Amino acid sequence: PGRPSGSRGDLTFQPVEQNLQDELIVPPGYRYSVVMGWGDPVERGAPAFDIDAQTPEAQAKQFGYNCDYIGFLPLDGRGQRFLLVVNHEYTNEQLMFRGVASETAPTTPEQKKIAMMAHGISVVEVQREGNSGSWKPVRDGERNRRITAVTPMELTGPVAGSPYVRTSADPRGRTVLGTLNNCAGGMTPWGTTLHGEENFNQYFGASTPVTENPKEPRYARYGITASAPPGRRWHEVDPRFDLAREPNEVNRFGWVVEVDPYDPRSTPKKRTALGRFKHEGANVQIAEDGRVVAYSGDDERFDYIYKFVSRKKMKRGNDRHARAHNLTLLDEGDLYVARFVGDSPAAEIDGSGRLPSDGEFDGWGQWIPLVKDGRSMIPGKDVAWVLTFTRLAADRLGKRLDRNGDFPDPAAPVVVDAAKVPTRMDRPEDIQVNPVNGRVYAALTNNSERNGTAGRGADEANPLTRSFGYSNGTYAERAGNRNGHVIEWEETRGIAGDRFAWRIFLVAGDPARPETYFAGYDKSKVSAISCPDNLEFDPAGNLWISTDGSVLSRVNQAEGTVGGTNDGLFAVPTQGRERGHLKAFLTVPLGAECSGPLITGDARSVFVAVQHPGETSGSTVDTPTSTWPDRRPVRPYPRPSVAVVFRQDGGRVGS
Ligand code: FEO
Ligand code: CA
Ligand code: CA
Ligand code: CA
Repeated sequence: PGRPSGSRGDLTFQPVEQNLQDELIVPPGYRYSVVMGWGDPVERGAPAFDIDAQTPEAQAKQFGYNCDYIGFLPLDGRGQRFLLVVNHEYTNEQLMFRGVASETAPTTPEQKKIAMMAHGISVVEVQREGNSGSWKPVRDGERNRRITAVTPMELTGPVAGSPYVRTSADPRGRTVLGTLNNCAGGMTPWGTTLHGEENFNQYFGASTPVTENPKEPRYARYGITASAPPGRRWHEVDPRFDLAREPNEVNRFGWVVEVDPYDPRSTPKKRTALGRFKHEGANVQIAEDGRVVAYSGDDERFDYIYKFVSRKKMKRGNDRHARAHNLTLLDEGDLYVARFVGDSPAAEIDGSGRLPSDGEFDGWGQWIPLVKDGRSMIPGKDVAWVLTFTRLAADRLGKRLDRNGDFPDPAAPVVVDAAKVPTRMDRPEDIQVNPVNGRVYAALTNNSERNGTAGRGADEANPLTRSFGYSNGTYAERAGNRNGHVIEWEETRGIAGDRFAWRIFLVAGDPARPETYFAGYDKSKVSAISCPDNLEFDPAGNLWISTDGSVLSRVNQAEGTVGGTNDGLFAVPTQGRERGHLKAFLTVPLGAECSGPLITGDARSVFVAVQHPGETSGSTVDTPTSTWPDRRPVRPYPRPSVAVVFRQDGGRVGS
């Protein structure tokens, strides 16, 4: 034991079946254990979890809700102790608090304050169990830390101090309290973690109506409606979330946050040079010349994919000097947005998913600068504006603008240079670089509104306007890209360059459906997959894909009926004869999405974040549809938890 078996990285595991069980289902020969769940003590002095004795003070020291991204950083040279870094994306109040009848029911001020503390990030020391692929937390580990919605953070980079981020509590515009809706993330080569702030809009409300300039819809373009849902309404307990009182507080969210988990006293940094949008996450790659590149998707229907290129080069080594230097890399550089150009005639992209005559959805791409050499590429708008209102800036590229940098008529923007218009994508999620072939992979999770109407038609990079999906008890062809897809590209002018060559790697769905595509692999041999979300690679370069919101159908063999199926984690080779041979590795309990996935460097463990188990219609603390992982009578309600999956014989995961 200790040596990965099957060093070629073949995916020989027996795939798991579709199901609706309230259990984490793993292949034969595998086991799982729960590492950390909602409410487990993290910081020293944290009380044991008691769902009936929750307080903001307790939650601020305990593991947060809805675990998502997972990072894993070494603490020793022997592979025995690591730091587990986990995002807590959002809260399900109806599954946290008795008496909250639904996800739209109002909550008390105390519950709102607990929910704030259940957001953020956890850092937990973990220890290998014996010589297995299983891991357990270290109680009171000296680096254990909770970061919440009130932890002080520093705004760094070009937006720090700008007028767009000044508030009455922080007139200098440099110190923000907290991070929100941390979805995916990444580990940097210099030993820090990056955390995307995604759907931050939902936390902001308004005590009196707010209006904005229609030429510059700073709120509307980010989905900030001033009518926060009843369960949130944080502005009722903290005026900084009140748009009518603090119009700029919302501009201090939607960033990529960099955390140094090794130093529990370090101040997290909001890296404004990477732009502000609904960051799914961010992942760093080192360019040939030592500069660093960070990819990030903006998870919204018809939004964009971005790339940041640092001005400075990374210093090798882990001494204090190199580390201090590398902690400045994400503060200065160029920001680009992607344009995907197809190589097939437009008439061959008919929205059905039928492959064009050249046999692939593919083409070339251009990275279009928004900020270059410290200058704004939007005439009339400064760099801080471009980085704070990045969506508005990207929308302006290639269009006619007035001398203020606005559309003369915002209802009818005029394209003057089509080659500079970025491509509106089907909800860009995680973007990861394959460590073996160097290619970049982006998950496009779905887009129910790509329905073929004006501005919402298919293009070669987003080719579906109709597809099969399951909802409300029926499985049928519906408008839009229901199951999502995965794009693969190579940077053709160097990693930091402005050109790439792309192709669709897979079009998700039921392989029996003609619109699906698995890199050309025999579809009778692959597992069905729907709504790719987070991506991960094992050391052999196999792509692992976790899903969120599967709309697959499932045939119940016993009854012959059709039903939905749980989300899960899938693995697929990206190279060789098996390229495209996708197989289901695990499924998560009922109502959950599968997030996180993290495969350890020795390939003996795969961590998954089981997010929102029991999040189904009508499910509450007292009438839950999931009791995973604790089960009755211990805790008869679900707890979002990080689990680790490993081979019973200690071998390589995937084998
Ligand atoms: Fe939080 Fe884009 O998933
Ligand atoms: Ca083509
Ligand atoms: Ca995600
Ligand atoms: Ca998700």
